[in-house]
Amino acid sequence: MEQLWSSDELLTAMNGRPVGELPSGVTGVSIDSRDVPEGAAFFAIKGDRFDGHDFASAALANGAGVLVIAEEKIPAMGNLIAPMIVVGDVLTALEDLGRAARRRVKGKVAAVTGSVGKTTTKEMLRTALTPSGKVHASVASFNNHWGVPLTLARMPRDTDFGVFEIGMNHPGEIRTLVDMVRPDVAMITCVEAAHMGNFKNLNEIADAKAEIMEGVVKDGSMILNLDNDLYKYLRKKANALGLKDRTYSYGCDKKADFELLSLRAHSDCSCFTVKIKGEEIAVKLGAPGEHIIQNAIGVLGMCSLLEADMALAALALADFSAEKGRGARSIRQIGAGEFTLIDESYNANPASMRAGIALLAAAEPGRGGRRIAVLGDMLEMGEFSETLHVALAEPLQEAGVDIVALSGKDMNYLAEAIRGEMQVYYRSDLDALIEWLMSKIRSGDVVMVKSSLGIGFGKVVKKLQEKFPECEPEDDQLASGD
Ligand SMILES: Nc1ncnc2c1ncn2[C@@H]1O[C@H](COP(=O)(O)OP(=O)(O)OP(=O)(O)O)[C@@H](O)[C@H]1O
Ligand SMILES: [Mg+2]
Repeated sequence: MEQLWSSDELLTAMNGRPVGELPSGVTGVSIDSRDVPEGAAFFAIKGDRFDGHDFASAALANGAGVLVIAEEKIPAMGNLIAPMIVVGDVLTALEDLGRAARRRVKGKVAAVTGSVGKTTTKEMLRTALTPSGKVHASVASFNNHWGVPLTLARMPRDTDFGVFEIGMNHPGEIRTLVDMVRPDVAMITCVEAAHMGNFKNLNEIADAKAEIMEGVVKDGSMILNLDNDLYKYLRKKANALGLKDRTYSYGCDKKADFELLSLRAHSDCSCFTVKIKGEEIAVKLGAPGEHIIQNAIGVLGMCSLLEADMALAALALADFSAEKGRGARSIRQIGAGEFTLIDESYNANPASMRAGIALLAAAEPGRGGRRIAVLGDMLEMGEFSETLHVALAEPLQEAGVDIVALSGKDMNYLAEAIRGEMQVYYRSDLDALIEWLMSKIRSGDVVMVKSSLGIGFGKVVKKLQEKFPECEPEDDQLASGD
C-alpha cells in the first residue's frame, strides 16, 4: 500500500511525541476502530457517545500501524504496547494534519455547502473531474468537525482535485471548517429551510452558509445559485468580502454566468445544454430531476473554474446516477408486472421534499399505475414544523399524486390538511404503514419514499426491496452474450 504520510511528517504536523518504534509511515487515517486500513494511523477521537481510546486495542487488532493518543489518556491505556504518537488533543492533531495535507497539495480544492444537495453535488463533481486528474473527495456526508479534517488528512499528496462537502448545524461551524479546507472554488447550492431548529429565519441560515466565502483562497472564486431566493443576499455578502469580481452565478436565468440554455427532461435522465464561458456544452445527465440539473450546472461551472477538461466533464455526467436514499430508482417485480421505486429515504426538508415530489410528478406510471408518495417527518424544523408540513399539500396536489401514505408525528398535520382532497393513509406505527403499502402497490405504480433519516423510512425501502425483487436491467436482458 502506498504511503500517505511518513512518520516524520506526522510528528511535525501534529507536534507529537513518538512512543515505541514508529513505522516509516502510514497508509491511511482512520477514526473508526472497525474500519482501519492495514498500516493506517488510528486517531482515538472522543465522540459524543464513545471515546476512541477505549478502542485502541481493537484498532491495533484490525491493522492500525500507529495510534494517535492524548497525553492525559496514557495512564488509562495500561500496558498496551504499540507504536504511538502522543498529542495534547487528538481532534486538534487531526485538524493540524488536515491543514498540513492542504498545504502540501499542489492541485486545486473545491468545497460545497448549502441547505440541500451537498452530497449530490460533491459526487457529481467527483464524477465530472475524474477524467481530468486524480480526485480525492469526501466519503458519504463527511461534512462536520470530524468528517472534514478526516477527509483532509486522507488527501494524498499527488491529488489534482480535492472535493469537500461542508455542513453545519450552528453559526460559526463552516467558518472553522473552511479555514482548514481553503477552497480555490466554493459553491453554495441553495439556502432553504433545513436544520431550522437553530435559526430564526432564512437570512440567518444564509449568514451561516456565507461563512464559506471567508475561506476561499486569494484569487479563488465563489459560485452561487441564481435561482435561489437568497441569491441577492449572498451576492451582497460576497461583494462585501471582496469577492465581487470572482463570484459567478449559475441557473436558468439569462443573467447567469453559467446558464441553462435548453432542456429535455426524461423520466430516467435529462438532456440539456449549458453556456459555460461563452461556449455551449451539451450534456446527458444520468439521473432525472430539475434539482439534479441545477446541481449539474453548478458542477460544470466549478469544473470550468477548476480548469478541468469540459468536454470530458460533460461526457462523464452521463454515468452519474442518484445514490441510495437520494433519488436512486429501481424497477421491482410485482406478480407478473412491475413498479418503480424511488428511494429518497436519506433526507427530507421542505426544499428536498418539493424536489422529491417533482421527481414523482415527472415519473410516468405504467398502465393502470398510480403515483404514490410515502412521506415521513422532516426533522429539525423547530417552531416552523407544523406550517412546513402542512405546506406540502400544495406541491402534492400540483404533482398529481394519487395516494399519499404518511407516518411520523408532524405528518399528522399534513394528513389532516389534505384528507378529503386526496387519498390519504396515515399510520403512526411505521410497520403498520409498511404492511398497508405492501398490500396496496400494484403493477404500473411509481412509489417515492422520503423522510428525514431519523424517522427510519430506510426500513420502508428495505422491506419493499426484500418483498419485491429488482427486475434485470433491460440492456442485460437484451444482451445475447457474444
Ligand atoms: N439543488 C437541490 N434542490 C432541492 N433539493 C435537492 C437539491 N439537490 C438535492 N436535493 C434533494 O435533497 C436530498 C438530499 O440530497 P443530498 O444528500 O445531496 O443533500 P445534503 O445537502 O448532502 O444533505 P445532508 O445535510 O444530509 O448531508 C436529495 O434526496 C434530493 O431530494
Ligand atoms: Mg450530505
